Amino acid sequence: MAKVTLEKLKKVYDGGVVAVHESDLSIKDKEFMVLVGPSGCGKSTTLRMIAGLEEISEGTLIIGEKVVNETAPKDRDIAMVFQNYALYPHMTVYENMAFSLKLRKVAKAEIDKRVRETAESLELTQYLKRKPKAMSGGQRQRVALGRAIVRDPAVFLLDEPLSNLDAKMRGSMRKELKLLHQKLQTTMIYVTHDQVEAMTLGDRICVMSDGYIQQVGTPLDVYDYPVNKFVASFIGTPAMNLLEGSLSQEGGAVYFNSPTSKLKLSDEMAAKAESYAGQNVTFGIRPEKVNLLQGHDHEGLQGEVEVIEKLRGSQQVFVKIGDQSVTVSVEAHLDVRNGKQVTIQPDMARAHIFAGEDGKNITL
Ligand SMILES: Nc1ncnc2c1ncn2[C@@H]1O[C@H](COP(=O)(O)OP(=O)(O)OP(=O)(O)O)[C@@H](O)[C@H]1O
Ligand SMILES: [Mg+2]
Repeated sequence: MAKVTLEKLKKVYDGGVVAVHESDLSIKDKEFMVLVGPSGCGKSTTLRMIAGLEEISEGTLIIGEKVVNETAPKDRDIAMVFQNYALYPHMTVYENMAFSLKLRKVAKAEIDKRVRETAESLELTQYLKRKPKAMSGGQRQRVALGRAIVRDPAVFLLDEPLSNLDAKMRGSMRKELKLLHQKLQTTMIYVTHDQVEAMTLGDRICVMSDGYIQQVGTPLDVYDYPVNKFVASFIGTPAMNLLEGSLSQEGGAVYFNSPTSKLKLSDEMAAKAESYAGQNVTFGIRPEKVNLLQGHDHEGLQGEVEVIEKLRGSQQVFVKIGDQSVTVSVEAHLDVRNGKQVTIQPDMARAHIFAGEDGKNITL
């Protein structure tokens, strides 16, 4: 068991590419932390520095209470699972799982016990004599997990372990991973570019972009209170609606104005946003945090229904407002038709205003 602490951790590759800028992150003992962000944002580099597979350029890495910058990977009490499983093709499942313990000169009886227990818990017992090539992707991935589990490490590092699997298998492996975490009670650091995976797996998620940590928090916190426009648009499907416009102050009130709309901010938002009056800003609202009304005889964002996607329990309505398209999620029974005039009333208590070059959320 161990906590993992990154203090101003930085990675500069040969040639000067800064893959990870000074990063601070505290992962608690037994926590399931997910590093999530688009391709190239530095997730794998961060994980590989924790694993000791990549040299740390600057900063301090602490596992448990110990600074491990200079500690060899094998002495860090970690186990890593990769996207491509990296199983030994000429070895059986049993031998694959036993291999690292053999290297560590663990007693044969102990190896046998650990491999069999782990195989049992991963439902691999019947495959112990098989070679990896005679197994499905999901089964191979379980072997790769098993190989890590037998080592009983203090920290698991997982780099996109499910990305080679089809959607259905990914779903069921997600559940298995969650169960596994509950059972093993071990710190897990999990890398993915898939925000749905991050939201469902993480106790907390760490959203990264361009080598910078943007936000760390519980999935719900990050969803409800994104610190900037990047996080707001990256987390959530369908994505948060973002409308470009400007702020104005009239009388005691603050308004968001765009060519097609004028929305009055709540008093609470107005207090935080008024110093930005006159500036260009982005208005953000999640698709499900709106009221959809028929016709244009209401205050709000007025537009026309363009496309409707019916899902079980809800429908996704795409509304054309000027030259922008706004997505709203409404309940399945609501009567909406293509081509009809509608008004979208955002729940202003759940809306956000992003301002400045970094798109900071000024209404938090
Ligand atoms: N060995 C290397 N030498 C130079 N630059 C590298 C090296 N490995 C990675 N990079 C660069 O560092 C940045 C971060 O890469 P990294 O692999 O950490 O991204 P990632 O978030 O894991 O992306 P993905 O989701 O595609 O796996 C990228 O710009 C990448 O091109
Ligand atoms: Mg990667």
